[in-house]
Order: sequence, then C-alpha cells, then structure tokens
Amino acid sequence: MSNGANSLWGSRFEGGPSEALAALSRSVHFDWRLAKYDIAGSLAHIKALYQAGYLATSELDALTRALTELLRRVTEGSFTAKESDEDVHGALERGLIEIAGSELGGKVRAGRSRNDQIATLIRMFLLDQCRDIEQLLLQLIEVLTNLAEENMGVAMPGRTHFQHAQPVLLSHHLLAHAWPLVRDIERLDDWRKRASLSPYGAGALAGSTLGLDPVLVATELGLSGVTQNSMDATASRDVVAEFSFITSLIGINLSRFAEEIIIWASAEFDYIKLDDAFSTGSSIMPQKKNPDIAELARGKAGRLIGNLTGLLATLKGLPLSYNRDLQEDKEPVFDSVDTLKVLLPAFTGMVATMTFNKNRLELLAPAGFSLATDVAEWLVKQKVPFRDAHEITGKLVSFCEKNNLQLHQVPDADLAAISNKLTPEVRSVLTVDGSIRARTGAGGTALPRVIEQISGLRKLLARREA
Ligand code: ARG
Repeated sequence: MSNGANSLWGSRFEGGPSEALAALSRSVHFDWRLAKYDIAGSLAHIKALYQAGYLATSELDALTRALTELLRRVTEGSFTAKESDEDVHGALERGLIEIAGSELGGKVRAGRSRNDQIATLIRMFLLDQCRDIEQLLLQLIEVLTNLAEENMGVAMPGRTHFQHAQPVLLSHHLLAHAWPLVRDIERLDDWRKRASLSPYGAGALAGSTLGLDPVLVATELGLSGVTQNSMDATASRDVVAEFSFITSLIGINLSRFAEEIIIWASAEFDYIKLDDAFSTGSSIMPQKKNPDIAELARGKAGRLIGNLTGLLATLKGLPLSYNRDLQEDKEPVFDSVDTLKVLLPAFTGMVATMTFNKNRLELLAPAGFSLATDVAEWLVKQKVPFRDAHEITGKLVSFCEKNNLQLHQVPDADLAAISNKLTPEVRSVLTVDGSIRARTGAGGTALPRVIEQISGLRKLLARREA
C-alpha cells in the first residue's frame, strides 16, 4: 500500500493498510475542498510554535514562504491530492515537505492533531458559506419586497385549510414568504456566534503539552474565540448539525412557497404566469410549460432534510471523544451548501420574473363568502355578542348557499328575517376593499400595515448592504 495513506501514522504498523481499508478510509476526494483552510490553519499554527519557542525566526520565515507557495500551487491547481493520499491533511503535509523538505516541513505537525484541525476547518468553511447563503437569501427577500411594492393594492383570496378564508393583499401574501427568510438569516447570524470559536490546540482530545497560544491561532484565523473544553472541541459537531438544520429550514421555507407557485400556475388557479426562461417543456406534450424550478425546490427540501437527519443519526450514541464516524459530517453538509447555492439563484429568478393575473386574483378575492367574518365583526360593533354574531352570520351564509346569492345580494327583507340585527347597513362592510382596509391591526393586511412591512424590509436590506 502506498506510503501516502499511512504517512501521518504508519510507523507502528508492520505492513501497509489493505486496499479495502484505504478505500473506505479515504476522504481526500471530498475534504480537499478544505485545503485552503488547512493551509491557513498551518500558517497560524507555525506562529504559535514560533511564539512558544519551537521554531527559529528563520524557520518561521521559511515555513511561511513554503506554505504560501503551497497555497499558490493548490489554488492554481498545480498541486493536487493523489490517489494515495488519505485526507487533505496528509496530502498537504506531503505538499509542504515537497517544498520545505522533510526536516522543516516535519515540524509543523507538533502540538496539533487532525482531530482539532478538522474541527476547525469545517467551521471556517461553513462560516464562509454562511456569508454566501445570506447574500442569496437577501436577493430573494429583495425580489419579494419589489414584487410586493409593484403589486400594491391587488386583492386576492386568503386561505386557511386551503379554503377561502378572508381577502388579503397580494403584497401581504408575498411578504409572508419574505419574513421566514429574514428569520433564517437571523438564525445564521446567531449560529455564527457559536461557530466562530477555534478548536485548534485541543489536540487529539486532551489538549497539548507544548504551551501553544490558542488565542493567537484563533485571531490569525479570524475566529472570535477559542473552545473551552478540548474533548468537546474535537468530539462535537452540533455546529455542523445546527448549520444543516438552518439549511433544511431554508429548503422548507422555499418548498412551501414553491408548492403555492405550482398550484398558482395551474389552469384551474391561473393566478400566475412563469417566465419562459424559468419554465421547462415536455418532451412529448408540445403544449406543456412546467414549473420545474418550484418542483425541484420542493424536492431539494427533502434532500436537505435527509442531510440533516443523516448527520443527527451519525452523532447519536457517539461516546467521547473523537470517533471516525465524525468524518461522515462533511459530505452531507457540503451537499446542503451546494444544493442551496444552485437552488436559490434559480428560485429567485423564477420569482422575479413571474407575472400575476391581477383580474383573476381580484375576482376570486370575495369568493367562498370570504367576507363573512366582516359581517360578524360588524355585528359585534352593533353590540351583538360574538357568539350570536357568529350564529347569525352562519345562517346568512347558509341562506346564500341555498339561494345562490353573494352576501351583499341578500334582500333587506331576508336579512331582517335571519336576524333583526342584520340591517341593510351591513352591506357597508361587504366589499373586498373595505374588508382589507379595515384590517389595520398590527401585521394586518391593510395597505398602511403592508407599507410598513415594506419599509421595514427595505431598512433591513440597506443595513445588510452597508
Ligand atoms: N478525515 C477525518 C475526519 O473528517 C479527519 C480526522 C481524522 N482523525 C483521525 N484520528 N483519524 O474526521
């Protein structure tokens, strides 16, 4: 077996590892994407070694140059992992030794373990990805805010239990999809506080004997502090699990919107038209225009949830401290990141370019007796107890159903027959416009409240851009 695979640990073994073990153990084909973070870790670590007296100034300089050169080679692709490399750490030690020689290159490994290294690298990687994902979320929030502003004043059916409930403004509905994404960004911000701690110096599990300064390493790596317990630092992956949870929730939030988009684009609903550039056709049915982006969003949500639950299952039951099972944290969370980075731009493009069938939305807004609550609340304002108001309104709806009438079409005499409280003045609240205008309570669908939401989101977007 190659010496590459056992170069970090082979000396106590008589023979090399079997091919089968090497194939199972190998992670370099996926952890190679952490290479630049591994090199950053080494650059910080040699400073700590120097400060503690394990490297001379000339050695620090030579190693700094060698690592910088290695980073250059990795970035331009002239140094890559070999089949025989077990993981990113081993591959990069090989690369460093190629440049600095084994005497000097061999000094870097003192006082650290792959266990504290990998725990640090995954945090650094996710912190960078976090920024990208937040950016993509902000773009979608901005698109939703623009759409809400452009379609101000358009009424549509609001639903509960997927049945017509009360009319709402289209803008209000669109913004209801923006706020969960705002919270996802807040969740990422909050996650960052826990992620931004450096496990470097925890060693394999118990800490190092060399007196290296972990704060120096953390500062060099741009992390805000150091972890408090070396066993926890190397054994825990809750930071990865929490990140995976947030990516799952982003997927779920997109999926819920996607489901509506799919329904809205159907002939029966006919609420929206998707732009050709963000729709697909059928290979057999020439007339088809399919909402594939929305369907893929719905599908990818399942995949993101799978990545989270897989990791949770891996973590469950692991004794302290490091176990090789932990290597299984990476591929799923990498996949979650990659999934969102390909999904969000397509989703945002689809939303930005969809157009609304405003006439149809307005036409359907009062359907299904969606103004019945307005009748009940009007009765309450006439001092009728709500319990009675609910019952009177129920009778009115039932009368309308039997006689195929809309609420506002019921003749005065029939109103009076249902209840003497139902005077003709009740018709003053039986318009979609009036119903929406009256819902001025906090977070309500009345135009001034919706405008407040838009300005709140605009401020948030501006703050984020600054
Ligand atoms: N590839 C390993 C991981 O992802 C790195 C740490 C290996 N540590 C060890 N003791 N074999 O977890």
